[in-house]
Amino acid sequence: MTDLTKLEAELSGRIAAAEDLAALEALRVAALGKSGSISELLKSLGRMTPDERRERGPQINGLRDRIAAAVAEKKAALDAAELDVRLASEHVDLTLPAPPERRGRVHPTMQVLDEMIAIFGEMGFSLAEGPDIEDDFHNFTALNFPPKHPARDMHDTFWLAPDERGERKLLRTHTSPVQVRVMQRTNEGVPAWVANGQAPPIRVIVPGRVYRSDSDATHTPMFHQMEGLVIDRAIHMGHLKWTLETFTRRFFETERVVTRFRPHHFPFTEPSCEMDVKCDRSGGAIKIGEGSDWLEILGGGMVHPNVLRNCGLDPETWQGFAFGLGIDRLGALKYGMPDLRDMFASDVRWLEHYGFSAFATPNPATGLS
Ligand code: PHE
Repeated sequence: MTDLTKLEAELSGRIAAAEDLAALEALRVAALGKSGSISELLKSLGRMTPDERRERGPQINGLRDRIAAAVAEKKAALDAAELDVRLASEHVDLTLPAPPERRGRVHPTMQVLDEMIAIFGEMGFSLAEGPDIEDDFHNFTALNFPPKHPARDMHDTFWLAPDERGERKLLRTHTSPVQVRVMQRTNEGVPAWVANGQAPPIRVIVPGRVYRSDSDATHTPMFHQMEGLVIDRAIHMGHLKWTLETFTRRFFETERVVTRFRPHHFPFTEPSCEMDVKCDRSGGAIKIGEGSDWLEILGGGMVHPNVLRNCGLDPETWQGFAFGLGIDRLGALKYGMPDLRDMFASDVRWLEHYGFSAFATPNPATGLS
C-alpha cells in the first residue's frame, strides 16, 4: 500500500464515519484546508524533479478530487438527514385556529367623508383642498369680512405668532378660504395639492380640518367641514336647495327628510341661509325623518358679488352658491354619537364601538362599505 492509498483509505473511512456537519467540516479542513494533508502534498510537487512530478502529480490531484467529492456527498447526506429530523419534529397543525389578529377600524369621520364624497361625486362635484394654516386674506378679507370687523373674532380664531414681516397666520376657521383658492388664479408658488384657480363653471367640494377655540359636547377645537362651491351662469337659490335636499336624503338614506331654510348672515354670501332638518329628539337619540324638532346642519347662500370680484370674476356674468357643513356633526347625527369630543379623544374602545370595518359589504345607498 503506498502512502497515498493509505491516506485515501484513512480519510474516506473518517468521512464516512462523520456524524455531523461540524465533524465533517473539521475533516475537510484537515485534508483540503490551507495546510491540510492533501494541500501539503500538492505543495510538495514544487520541490520534485520533473519526472517525479509527472508521476505523482496526477496521483495527488486525483486523490484531492476524490476526497473533495466524498466530502460533498457526505455533506449532502448529512443535510438531508438534518432536514428529516426537523420535518419529523417541527410540524404545523393546519387545523389549529389562526391566532386572533387585531384589526383597525375606520374612524366615523373618515367613513362619513367617504359617503359624502361618493354622493357629491355622483352629482358631478370634484374635490379641492387647501392649507390648514391660512392667511388673513384667504380666511377673512377675500371673503368680504370688513377690516377690523368683529366677525373676525366671531370665529374664535387661533392666531399664530407673527412672522419676520409681522404677518400673523392663523389656523383656518372654516373651509371657505378654499373657495377663494379655487376661484382665484393667482396661487403661484403654492403646493400642487392646494386648489389652484380654475375657470368657471366650477363645481367642487372641499373637505378638511378647521379650528376654533371652542369646546363642549357639540363643539371641538378641531373639527371637519365640507365646503361646496358651484359657479356658473344663471345659478340661483333653487339649485342650492335642490343640491342640499338631494344630498341630505341620500346621506340619511330616507326620502322622508324634511328641510327648512332660514335666513341668516355670512359676510361671503348674499342672501345667506341656514338649513335645518326635521327630527325627533324625544327618545334621547335623534331620529331624522320624524318628529317635529329642527336641527341646524349647515350654512350656505349665494356667493357675494364682492367675493366674486375679489377672485377676479365678474358678478354680471358669473353667479354661484356655496355651503359649508360639519362632517363630524353629520356623522354623529347619522350614527348616534352623543358627544363630539369623544371623536377626537383617541380612545380605542370608542373606535372599536363606533368605528367601521374596512371590509364590510357595500351600503346599497352609497355603494360604500
Ligand atoms: N363658512 C361658514 C361657517 O363655517 C359656512 C358657510 C360656507 C356659509 C359657505 C355659507 C357658505 O360657518
